[in-house]
Amino acid sequence: MSETSDSEIESDSDAESGSLLTTSFDTKQNTAAEPAAASLVTTSDLDVYYGDQQALTAVSMAIPKKRVTALIGPSGCGKSTFLRSINRMNDQIGACRVEGTIRFNGRDIYNEAVDPVALRRRIGMVFQKPNPFPKSIYDNVAYGLRVQGFDGDVDERVERSLKRAALWEEVSDQLDKSGLELSGGQQQRLCIARAIAPDPEVLLMDEPASALDPVATSKVEDLIDDLAEEYTVVIVTHNMQQAARISDMTAVFLTGGELVEFDDTKKIFEDPENQRVEDYITGKFG
Ligand SMILES: Nc1ncnc2c1ncn2[C@@H]1O[C@H](COP(=O)(O)OP(=O)(O)OP(=O)(O)O)[C@@H](O)[C@H]1O
Ligand SMILES: [Mg+2]
Repeated sequence: MSETSDSEIESDSDAESGSLLTTSFDTKQNTAAEPAAASLVTTSDLDVYYGDQQALTAVSMAIPKKRVTALIGPSGCGKSTFLRSINRMNDQIGACRVEGTIRFNGRDIYNEAVDPVALRRRIGMVFQKPNPFPKSIYDNVAYGLRVQGFDGDVDERVERSLKRAALWEEVSDQLDKSGLELSGGQQQRLCIARAIAPDPEVLLMDEPASALDPVATSKVEDLIDDLAEEYTVVIVTHNMQQAARISDMTAVFLTGGELVEFDDTKKIFEDPENQRVEDYITGKFG
C-alpha cells in the first residue's frame, strides 16, 4: 500500500507551494487509486476518568479499516488511555471510568453482552516493553490459540504468525528456546507474532519500537507497513518522523486529553489546521 510513483511524491505544484512547516517530514505516500477506507472503530464523545481526574475529553474519532493510524501528543495527554479503552484493558484498572461510546464493527463494545476476553482476541495489543511469557517461543505464539480453544493446525498457525512478524528465519530451528532468551528486538517481534496468531482485526501498539535500536526499529516499521494490508493498526509513538513515515492517518492529542486534530498524515505534518498542532510537531513544546 505504500507503493509510490515519482509523480505522486514530487508533483510540481507541491514543490512550488512546499510545506508550511520549517521542519520537514517524509510522509508515507499512498497511491491515488486507494479508495477511502470504511471505519472499523469509532469513538463518540469518549470521556475517560481515573477517579476524579479526567484523562480523555470528548474524543470522537473514526479509525479507518486496514490503515495505520498514529496517535501522537505529549506525555500524559491520554494516548495509552485511549488505546486501552478500545479493547477494554481499562476495565482492569479499578479507578478507571469510561463514558461515551466506542463501536467496533458498529457494535457498542461496552454493551454488557460483550465479553471483553473475546473482544481482545479481535483487538490485539502490543506494549512498549517486550513482554514475552517465560515459555518457549512456540508456546508464546500458541498461547492465544490455546486460550481460545483453537482446533486447527497450531504448528501451521505458529509458523505463519512468526513469518508475518518477520521472525521465522531467525528462530525456526529453535522454537523450544525460551522467549526470554531472544534479543529485545526479537522479543518485540515475538510479541507481535503472539498478538496476530489468533488473527485479530485490529492491532493496537503502544510505542512498540521505543525500546529498540535503529535496526530493530526499522524491522518493526516495515512489519507494520505489511500488517496494514490485513489489519487495522493503531500505533502510539513519540517519534514524529516515525509517525510521518508509517501512518496513513494521524491523531494529535494535547494536554487535557483532547483530540485536537485528526487527518491524513500528510496534511497533519505539512499543513495542519491547528496552531497548537503545528507548534507541537515542530517541537515548540511537548
Ligand atoms: N492507572 C492509572 N491510574 C491513575 N491515573 C492514570 C493511570 N494511567 C494513566 N493515568 C493518568 O491519565 C493521564 C493520561 O495518561 P496516559 O498514560 O494515557 O498518557 P500518555 O499520553 O500515554 O502518556 P505517555 O506518552 O507518557 O505514555 C495522565 O494524567 C496519567 O497520570
Ligand atoms: Mg503512554
